[in-house]
Amino acid sequence: MISVSCILVLGLLSSALGGHQQEGEQLSDVRREFGDDEERHVLERTKLSKSSAGLNEQTCAALAGVESVLLNSTHTFTFKVHTVVSLSLAWVGDGSGVLLVLTTFQAPPFIMRSGQSNLYRSEDYGKTFKDVTHLINHTFIQTEFGIVISPDHSGKVILTGDVSDMGGFRLFCSQDFGITFVPADLPFEPLIQIIYNPEDCNVLLTLSITWDLWLSVDFGATWRKIYDSVCLFRWGPKNHIYFTTNNNGSCSDKGMLELKKTTDYGRSFKTIATRVYSFVLGGKFVFASIMTGKGTERIIHVSVDGGEVWNMAQLPSVNHEQFYSILAANQDMIFMHVDDLGDSGVGTIYVSDDRGTVFSKSLERHLYTTTGSDTDFTVIASLRGVYMTSVLTEDGLVETVITYDQGARWQTLCRPQNSQCNSDTSTNRPNRCRLHIHASYSTTMKMNVPMLPLSQPNAVGLILAHGSIGDAESALLPDVYVSDDGGYSWLLALKGPHHYAILDSGRLLVAVEHTHSPVNQIKFSTDEGQCWQTYNFTSDPFHFSGMDSEPGSRSMTVSLWGYRNDFSRWVVITVDFRKLLTRDCNESDYVEWLAHSADPSGSEDGCVLGYKETFLRLRKDSVCWNGRDYAVTKKLSPCLCTMDDYHCDFGYYRSENSSECVEQEEMKGRPLEFCLNGTTEQLQTSGYRKIPGNQCEGGFQPQRKETDLRKMCISDSLHPNSLTESSSPNTAVIVMVVIAILLTSAVAGVWLVKKYVCGGRFLVHRYSVMREHVEGNKIEGVDDIDPHYMETGKAQYNEDSDQDLLE
Ligand SMILES: *[C@@H]1O[C@H](CO)[C@@H](O)[C@H](O)[C@H]1NC(C)=O
Ligand SMILES: *[C@@H]1O[C@H](CO)[C@@H](O)[C@H](O)[C@H]1NC(C)=O
Ligand SMILES: *[C@@H]1O[C@H](CO)[C@@H](O)[C@H](O)[C@H]1NC(C)=O
Ligand SMILES: *[C@@H]1O[C@H](CO)[C@@H](O)[C@H](O)[C@H]1NC(C)=O
Ligand SMILES: *[C@@H]1O[C@H](CO)[C@@H](O)[C@H](O)[C@H]1NC(C)=O
Ligand SMILES: *[C@@H]1O[C@H](CO)[C@@H](O)[C@H](O)[C@H]1NC(C)=O
Ligand SMILES: *[C@@H]1O[C@H](CO)[C@@H](O)[C@H](O)[C@H]1NC(C)=O
Repeated sequence: MISVSCILVLGLLSSALGGHQQEGEQLSDVRREFGDDEERHVLERTKLSKSSAGLNEQTCAALAGVESVLLNSTHTFTFKVHTVVSLSLAWVGDGSGVLLVLTTFQAPPFIMRSGQSNLYRSEDYGKTFKDVTHLINHTFIQTEFGIVISPDHSGKVILTGDVSDMGGFRLFCSQDFGITFVPADLPFEPLIQIIYNPEDCNVLLTLSITWDLWLSVDFGATWRKIYDSVCLFRWGPKNHIYFTTNNNGSCSDKGMLELKKTTDYGRSFKTIATRVYSFVLGGKFVFASIMTGKGTERIIHVSVDGGEVWNMAQLPSVNHEQFYSILAANQDMIFMHVDDLGDSGVGTIYVSDDRGTVFSKSLERHLYTTTGSDTDFTVIASLRGVYMTSVLTEDGLVETVITYDQGARWQTLCRPQNSQCNSDTSTNRPNRCRLHIHASYSTTMKMNVPMLPLSQPNAVGLILAHGSIGDAESALLPDVYVSDDGGYSWLLALKGPHHYAILDSGRLLVAVEHTHSPVNQIKFSTDEGQCWQTYNFTSDPFHFSGMDSEPGSRSMTVSLWGYRNDFSRWVVITVDFRKLLTRDCNESDYVEWLAHSADPSGSEDGCVLGYKETFLRLRKDSVCWNGRDYAVTKKLSPCLCTMDDYHCDFGYYRSENSSECVEQEEMKGRPLEFCLNGTTEQLQTSGYRKIPGNQCEGGFQPQRKETDLRKMCISDSLHPNSLTESSSPNTAVIVMVVIAILLTSAVAGVWLVKKYVCGGRFLVHRYSVMREHVEGNKIEGVDDIDPHYMETGKAQYNEDSDQDLLE
């Protein structure tokens, strides 16, 4: 399910943004110009120019001759299609410079059957396009089918054409980066986009509108129906296919589904779970929420061997009005959100052990609204162990919290030094003047936030995000903040909302103001957002719809999409910044930087999950080109173990402000038992369990031992009849106790949290969405799967792509 396609759908209304109009005043003080210096090729920081400075006027110097250099690198292309159509954009391959643009209509298909989609192809990062509509024989392609790019960068493209006047659907498949397309008629009507097997992109899966699962092993040439009445399917590792089915044929009959798996492309099937509500794959784990048999109650089950052996997660069960959501998963552990009872809009985040069964409470009052099914949970890709989200405080404020150690502790963000507190809030609560980051929740609330927080693995430490300063998230116009150290410190970078992008692995940041008026300026920074300059990319301002650059942030070009005042034509203006950075970076441009360094005097400074990482990073004042082949260089060194490298074990909790784990009162003198693989395990522990993935050595090494008591117990609710009477009450008690402990320890020992939301713009059904964030091998999912979600086809888009629905 991992795809690196980058799809941007541009709609006409996208620039006719509704909302606030008081921007002028806020923005007036950020109008910046660069010097009129006409000297060419002298792109060094030669003089301090006040007019060039942004929010840091005293220290910023302008690059000279920017205008003349960039003017030669600015390309405009006008599409001969009306703006009422939507444009789907997709980058093909990695570094190939190939961009496909497809026009589609956002109208019911029956209206558009007679229409046709236009296809354009660029080989130069969007500077020029060729009309290649004849390659798809003037067929119509629905917006939701779009352009499907293979995740392996091999240049495969699939378009699903609607040829229903001739009775069906036709695929157009390309294996050469869209130069040629081979047509193939589908023997069924597709419901959703075609999904590539991430491990073999010649193998494709999709669902028909009659909910049959269809497979092709020859890149779409021939198709075979492999199962009827399938509700949801996912590709797993090793070419395995997982899917839920209901023999009655109703996928809305949640809790009655069967989870099946095929390891041989549909020649044989195995039922791996029954009474399934929903399932998700993440990291090495398979998760399924399974009905317990008690009313509408269900509980998460986990398997680490592809569904052979299941264990009940030691998490609270939920009823039909609540939901589970996997916020992030990697090979070691997962973050799980469990919704609170009632319509509170909050829940609790738990972090798992490496088996996915024993959970520790990480954050309470985590904001995850039921109305928008949205959470601000954000994985910061530019620094290991960093996650950001929002909590809803008892007094109803939405606050941002961040963790630097994979959920062990959460804290609020400090106020950036170059910014002030909003006056009315600071007078009331001066001690609570903090930075709050806007993410999906704000987007759902229709606040003026055009972009979610942005971070990239190859731009180490860098985060761009919209935020506001105050005692909670403010409804005022947000500004753009930058962090260069993975979220420890922040800087006010741009006033007012902007679209932004990271280019050249972080050496270049670009931004365009988000406004209702026509724009002609792009802002850019070569020092990680401290100083910004502007460039007028056109003399004839246009209505800006969106910004697009090649996924992966290695490119030097950015395309600005929009239209002129006559509303009649789509225009793309592509700016190539390559000539701005005149020289390649060399060794002396890079300096060592210790990640997570908060206390340079301590010997454990920079230790996170048992090791330190020292990166080579570009000096801020080096105006040079990282290049497309730039690879992050880092050095690892192990740390001694301390208490902070451990979670509190089963039966223990952390008291406030202390690293020490203390035994839960109720558990004193009792044997610590829990159920694993159907037998009771007794635990001998001094209260500490190493955090999954932690690589610390030596130092603090508490004793811990699990003994198999050879006593049967209930480790899952899948096979309720296979248990002996005598052992079951015991287990039930244990599970209850575990949950009670988790609940109490949360109250006692865990740190307060803030609000946050994640990329849920496409999810509109209350409790009825299954979301996934695919980030490398990390997956985010919610336990509720709605076919609608699949239909939109958004599930498989890569998060780090700039796919966006601009409206
Ligand atoms: C811009 O392009 C023109 C024509 O191609 C060329 O004469 C001029 O020297 C270029 N200017 C720069 C700054 O590269
Ligand atoms: C293109 O479409 C026309 C009519 O819709 C059809 O007759 C023709 O066979 C198609 N050609 C291909 C290559 O699909
Ligand atoms: C659907 O399946 C469930 C359990 O498998 C069964 O109880 C129910 O009667 C079935 N409904 C129909 C309409 O077949
Ligand atoms: C750039 O455009 C702005 C208006 O958007 C204008 O005020 C400014 O003078 C222009 N600068 C140059 C150098 O043309
Ligand atoms: C790196 O580039 C700078 C600026 O061009 C130059 O002064 C320096 O000598 C170069 N260093 C090396 C090791 O090439
Ligand atoms: C924990 O620390 C916070 C802030 O440092 C303080 O307000 C609180 O009283 C402390 N709690 C305990 C139990 O010491
Ligand atoms: C439980 O089963 C899993 C999968 O078969 C296995 O990897 C694990 O070692 C088992 N654990 C115990 C304690 O038996």
